[in-house]
Amino acid sequence: MQNKENKRIWLSPPHMSGNEQAFVNQAFESNWIAPNGEHINGFEQELTNYLNPNYFVTVLNSGTSAIHLSLLLLGVTDGDEVLCQSNTFIASVNPVCYCGATPIFIDSEADSWNICPEQLELAIKDRIKLGKKPKAIIAVHLYGMPYNVNAIQSIAESYDIPVIEDSAEALGSRYKTEKCGTLGTLSAISFNGNKIITTSAGGALITKDKELKQKAVLLANQAKEYTTEYLHNHIGYNYRMSNVLAGIGRGQLQVIEKRVEARRAIYSLYKEQLSSIEEVGFQSEADNSYSNRWLTCILLPKSSDKEPLRVLLEQHNIESKPLWKPMHQQPVFKNSMSYINGISDMLFNKGLCLPSGSDLTEEDQFRVISIIKDYFSS
Ligand SMILES: Cc1ncc(COP(=O)(O)O)c(C=O)c1O
Repeated sequence: MQNKENKRIWLSPPHMSGNEQAFVNQAFESNWIAPNGEHINGFEQELTNYLNPNYFVTVLNSGTSAIHLSLLLLGVTDGDEVLCQSNTFIASVNPVCYCGATPIFIDSEADSWNICPEQLELAIKDRIKLGKKPKAIIAVHLYGMPYNVNAIQSIAESYDIPVIEDSAEALGSRYKTEKCGTLGTLSAISFNGNKIITTSAGGALITKDKELKQKAVLLANQAKEYTTEYLHNHIGYNYRMSNVLAGIGRGQLQVIEKRVEARRAIYSLYKEQLSSIEEVGFQSEADNSYSNRWLTCILLPKSSDKEPLRVLLEQHNIESKPLWKPMHQQPVFKNSMSYINGISDMLFNKGLCLPSGSDLTEEDQFRVISIIKDYFSS
């Protein structure tokens, strides 16, 4: 039997607004149970309105598909090199390999925990010297925190290399006045079940270039040309979002600002309550950044605290998780080149992601906080 005291607290569960069901019912009533229909067009338009009216959105079956299509649209192919933030979830990088290209990993800066401008420039110079100018840069707003957009953009522009903005975790975040998801040549968002808003599984590709949007839709639809006969000039993919799931997305998007406020409040309470523990650290928000605080992660005083604290929380039926293990530490990438400064290794060693779901009650958050405080006081 579960009671209030031992109810499971998840890291980042889906949080329905109550508006989704009506959209889903509409899809059923109209029988548009297909990767086509009114909700797809509606969701794309509403995302455009939310992000920036000058941008074009293509909704897809995942954020991973959005990154894959971005690479294809930039012409990334066999033998190319792509510079990727090492401190990320592997979905940022797998699509590079789908293209037959080679990822080169770039370490993080200490404040945002995202791609380090110095290491990035070092890598670009080095690769160019070796006659391998990188084809693209994949930069990630990790846990919703904007990367150093000004610095990365200015390096990218000076070497004329396009940036793919992995904004999978950062819908609702901003850099200066611009929304994350509109800061790259091509940008990806995820609507996976754990994200700030969800379509159960899903994603979106965003670009300012209308022609790229048209090509993205073509590639996501098996590259079927707009003719009556089945005509294909390219290899395509089955990457479009279902109309039913787009309906869930429309209901979710109506409450995005509330979800951001809730996650930011959760972060503030953790920060207020846990900062008194000596040497505990947090991901910092620069003056020009506004994070959706998708997940609150803490850095513990010692790496030896991480697993015992995770196990202790688990014993109280509370889910917490280590930070993403950097890509340069992954066995599958053991032969890959990387430009490393030690930051993402340190973050991985000491970091723990805490329950941050927008439906986390204050009472439940205090359950988490008191276990962490007890751990450090004993
Ligand atoms: C940083 C990052 N990039 C890409 C993805 C891929 O998104 P999806 O799960 O929708 O394919 C995710 C999420 O899972 C992510 O966290």
